[in-house]
Amino acid sequence: MLSSDTLAGRVILVTGGTAGLGLSMARRFLELGAAVSVCGRNADRLEAALGTLREGAERERAVHGCVCDVRQFEAVETWVADAADQLGPPNGLVNNAAGNFLAATETLSTNAFEAVVGIVLNGTFHATLAAGRRMIETGGGAIVNIVATYAQTGSAFVVPSAAGKGGVLAMSRSLAVEWAEYGIRVNAIAPGPFPTEGAWSRLMPAPELEQEAMDRVPMGRFGRHEELAELAAFLLSDASGYITGDCITIDGGRTLASGGEFSSLIHRPRDEVKAAFAAIRGGGETA
Ligand code: HXC
Repeated sequence: MLSSDTLAGRVILVTGGTAGLGLSMARRFLELGAAVSVCGRNADRLEAALGTLREGAERERAVHGCVCDVRQFEAVETWVADAADQLGPPNGLVNNAAGNFLAATETLSTNAFEAVVGIVLNGTFHATLAAGRRMIETGGGAIVNIVATYAQTGSAFVVPSAAGKGGVLAMSRSLAVEWAEYGIRVNAIAPGPFPTEGAWSRLMPAPELEQEAMDRVPMGRFGRHEELAELAAFLLSDASGYITGDCITIDGGRTLASGGEFSSLIHRPRDEVKAAFAAIRGGGETA
């Protein structure tokens, strides 16, 4: 666990920070000494989020938020300017806002594609541009982009999200190089399944799919919000001062298990697998 002053003096912006993983990260950044501004599309959710983040007088002055749809650059600019006025210039940004749903690609309308890519890719660019320009003026910062493990592999049935996240990963790596001389680090996090209301309602339509998804994780469980929040805090902090352009996977081994040719054998009883290996070896020696 990081020490309680790890993010002292930081002003961190979190898109989609009014619920789910974004809110969990914002809460943790506050605990670690940062001032935090969140944005989200829904005014009621924003009010509720600000209420929970402001619990405790010490934090009240360090919390800010705006209703903002990251698809609209002007709205993002207004949010970032207002946050800078209230909290000071931003030196941390987490691009967490996302949109996603399961669909057969041939059934998608162009609007559906644009809705998801608009949030994931354009939204990340908008916040990165607005906050990044300020970081350049004030001497640097750290940007963390939340992607998905399928940003590298692609995934069936979430083509707009996969295309958007893949683009965000390329943007992270490109800017890590381009903005290094401004003292800005840019990294990505690729989470596996972390339960949230937003993602689960759209991506886990049936309980058996949830169990199936869990069975595919070698560690046998989904991620915990505090685990992702701690990783994001690390990447925003000086503790990761020489890390840039990387993408850290946090998925309990899920991605590697699906990629290895023989990894699916973990789903068979281990004794049966070992017996099969022994039989092959025995057969080889006698051949
Ligand atoms: C097909 C759909 C659809 C669906 C919406 N559309 N849902 N098409 N299947 N299930 C279409 C609509 O018909 C419309 O096209 C277009 O998309 C825009 O829809 P709206 O509802 O008007 O848009 P909007 O209100 O802006 O909603 C955006 C959204 C929505 C992306 C569609 O799902 C959303 O707000 N999501 C935010 C939260 C979220 O998705 N969280 C999960 C992220 S999880 P037409 O042509 O009819 O106008 C994640 C990580 C996954 O990203 C990692 C897992 C391991």
